[in-house]
Amino acid sequence: MVATSTFRIGIIGAGGIAGAHVASATETGGAVEVVAVADPVEASREKLASQTGAEGFQDAGALIDRAKDLGLGGVVVCTPPSARLDIVERALKAGLPVLCEKPLAHTLADAKRVAELGAAHPKTPAFVAYCHRFAPAVTEMARQIESGRLGTVTRFENVFACDLPGHKDKWFSDLTLAGGGAFIDMGSHSVDLLAFLLGRGEIVGAVTDRAWPGRAETSATVLLKVPSPVRPNIRKGVAAVIESGWAESSRFTLTVVGTNGLLHYDYEKPTELVFKDLVGQAEVSPIETHGVRFRLQLEAFARAAMGGEPGCLSTFADGVHAAEVVDRAGGSSNLL
Ligand SMILES: NC(=O)c1ccc[n+]([C@@H]2O[C@H](COP(=O)([O-])OP(=O)(O)OC[C@H]3O[C@@H](n4cnc5c(N)ncnc54)[C@H](O)[C@@H]3O)[C@@H](O)[C@H]2O)c1
Repeated sequence: MVATSTFRIGIIGAGGIAGAHVASATETGGAVEVVAVADPVEASREKLASQTGAEGFQDAGALIDRAKDLGLGGVVVCTPPSARLDIVERALKAGLPVLCEKPLAHTLADAKRVAELGAAHPKTPAFVAYCHRFAPAVTEMARQIESGRLGTVTRFENVFACDLPGHKDKWFSDLTLAGGGAFIDMGSHSVDLLAFLLGRGEIVGAVTDRAWPGRAETSATVLLKVPSPVRPNIRKGVAAVIESGWAESSRFTLTVVGTNGLLHYDYEKPTELVFKDLVGQAEVSPIETHGVRFRLQLEAFARAAMGGEPGCLSTFADGVHAAEVVDRAGGSSNLL
């Protein structure tokens, strides 16, 4: 058993997003350290292991079995969503806190099973990595909604879209592995952001489009309403429009509209938060870049795993909510 004040993590699945978690661990200045990496693909795990000095494992179970010796405080599960259930089960049974990448699973049924595992191990903290909750602009939007600056909030608009031609040939667009396309991938972030900022949404309608025959949808335009807002100054039944895309020009924007004005954040102008009043007068305020969200999320996970408050980390119940909305939107088929 290693005694240390540093929060030591294992990363399971050493692909693209694992690199963001490794970088954010480095940004913590030693508070969080990656000491183990598991991936069946040797080149992937060796790449991360050589960057971090972490021990490499071919199999997630072998990493979890060595958790005590390595002094692990938790694991970050970065596999494709269809590979999560067994890994989360094994980690929770070993008493290891889990931060599971989004979406919680590729199907609603599996998301519910993962959440049941979390509920069966209530003493072991477990979260979903819906990282946009940690963008400073989002935190500031929540504060300004509650302050009443927007008046009564009447609409939420969120676009996460860009051109990802490589997804055509990856698991991301394979319905059996991903469970859906642009909406489960990018749109589940939006669904969680809506739940966090205004309240859980209910689907009213969805239209999807498919640029790649035989693959999952590349575009989703989804209308929701929020029957039970979670903050003051929000209209009951407030409307939300979510646009998700994989084969279009990039837009990463979040707008909350109220009776006194709107707040707008463009991820491509990462240090500007815009308030615009009803006559179009804009006030631009400086804000810390959304680039810090992975570090803030990892630090929150470390605190929660060591017995602190979870802060705004998404719970497995939040993950099931997002899965329900995605399921209701119909995966890659049109709802209406
Ligand atoms: N939070 C975000 O903003 C964000 C961004 C990108 C991806 N993601 C999510 O992260 C997850 C992974 O995405 P990615 O882009 O890193 O995918 P990826 O394909 O680049 O990496 C996945 C890795 O998992 C490995 N893997 C597969 N099965 C495994 C198993 N049983 N045990 C251990 N490793 C296994 C693969 O070999 C691969 O290296 C997805 O759920 C994705 O939606 C989140």
